Amino acid sequence: MPQLQDCRGVPHTAANQDALDAYDRVIKAYMGFRVDIGDRLKEALTADADMPMAHVLRGYLFQLMGLKPLNERAKKTAEHARALTAEGNEHEQLHAAVLTSWANGDTKGAAVILEQILLDHPLDLLAIRTAHYLHFYSGDTTAHRDSISRIMPAWDEEVPGYSYLMGMRAFSLEEAGHYDEAETAGRVAVDLDHTDTWAIHAVTHVMEMLGRQQEGIEWVNRHVDEWDGVVHQFANHLWWHLALFHLALRQHDEVLDVYDKRIWAAPSEDGLDISNATSMLMRLSFRGLDVGDRWQDLAEQVSGRLHEHLLPFNDAHFMMPLAMQHDEPRAAGYLASMRQYVDTNDNSISEVMGDVSVNLAESIWAFGQADYDRTVAFMLPIRYRLHGIGGSHAQRDVFHTMLAVAAVRAERTALARALWAERIDRQKNCAWSWQCYADALGAAGHSKAADEARERATAIASV
Ligand SMILES: [Fe+2]
Repeated sequence: MPQLQDCRGVPHTAANQDALDAYDRVIKAYMGFRVDIGDRLKEALTADADMPMAHVLRGYLFQLMGLKPLNERAKKTAEHARALTAEGNEHEQLHAAVLTSWANGDTKGAAVILEQILLDHPLDLLAIRTAHYLHFYSGDTTAHRDSISRIMPAWDEEVPGYSYLMGMRAFSLEEAGHYDEAETAGRVAVDLDHTDTWAIHAVTHVMEMLGRQQEGIEWVNRHVDEWDGVVHQFANHLWWHLALFHLALRQHDEVLDVYDKRIWAAPSEDGLDISNATSMLMRLSFRGLDVGDRWQDLAEQVSGRLHEHLLPFNDAHFMMPLAMQHDEPRAAGYLASMRQYVDTNDNSISEVMGDVSVNLAESIWAFGQADYDRTVAFMLPIRYRLHGIGGSHAQRDVFHTMLAVAAVRAERTALARALWAERIDRQKNCAWSWQCYADALGAAGHSKAADEARERATAIASV
């Protein structure tokens, strides 16, 4: 088979240039979160049914869907890709090995191979994005940042897809806490391509972390309104971010409006959709707000997914509707299934599940049953290891908030004051956090400080 180069000069085995051009179009659709990824992939496989990297990409896309039947298809695709690449180039063989590791739960091993690929092929955009994803869902912010930093010298604005690289750079810098550099990189990407979804999302995260809610509301509304029919479900995650901004300003009607029209407008089996919805309802419940029968729909969605254990981040959210619906049989079965997975597997998922996820699920269950002492007891020992389940700081904040709320409700006054002091130090512009801090101070007998904190909450909410 001929050896050809893609638009960034990365070597591929492909029948002809037309097939490789079609592959480049799939990569572009994938990088842009476009709804037509599947159609573009079919075109590439029609142009060359045996193109190794088209099959690897197909397997990666199966994995990204986070569904058990597609995980099984990814394993079969990995077998096929290994057979196709046996006589191919080393770059393709390594990608087939990544898919094999990933589909079998060895996400950390898959990331190691991707970094090996990138040492020789720093312009391999698929390897960059896949490593970016796997580091993110391993919760390793340093590896996530460095993965992009070390390939930057190989890139410049002339390389096709440069804005995508800058979008990933922005997000990795944001998660590592380098907010100024992250925003600069993200805005460079958006200026180059105003539809660069991941870059827009990265800048949104900077605004979330810095409490720039009004600016964030304008930023999301400006960019995301034009995504209908263009960007796939990931658009819902940007609407989730919009709701977070409204939540911090105590604009609860707006939050529920965005929830019903965008975050969970229709039932979805997508893991990110489920985590967006469940974590938003949890946040509303922390505030004592009535969310109606919205939990019921989510409980039905997750009930068939409780034995998958494909992504610890998703698993953590699957427990939320069970806990809030008081579904003891399913919750007990879920916990047993997690423990069995830990006992019968030895991979990246079982490692974090044993270290963090089982306790986290117990804590969430206890919270749903108003057993706040037990919530605290399960959560306190793991709070600084929660990053292991993956996801962003903004996403995992729901678990830290749950701990702080539980401490208040358990009347652990000293702990509650301490936890809310931490939170207002990080979330200086969140009116609700200041209100909770005021309540915690009052309960601990610090009435003057409580009054000052309450004034701060009112001032933020009135902006
Ligand atoms: Fe996000």
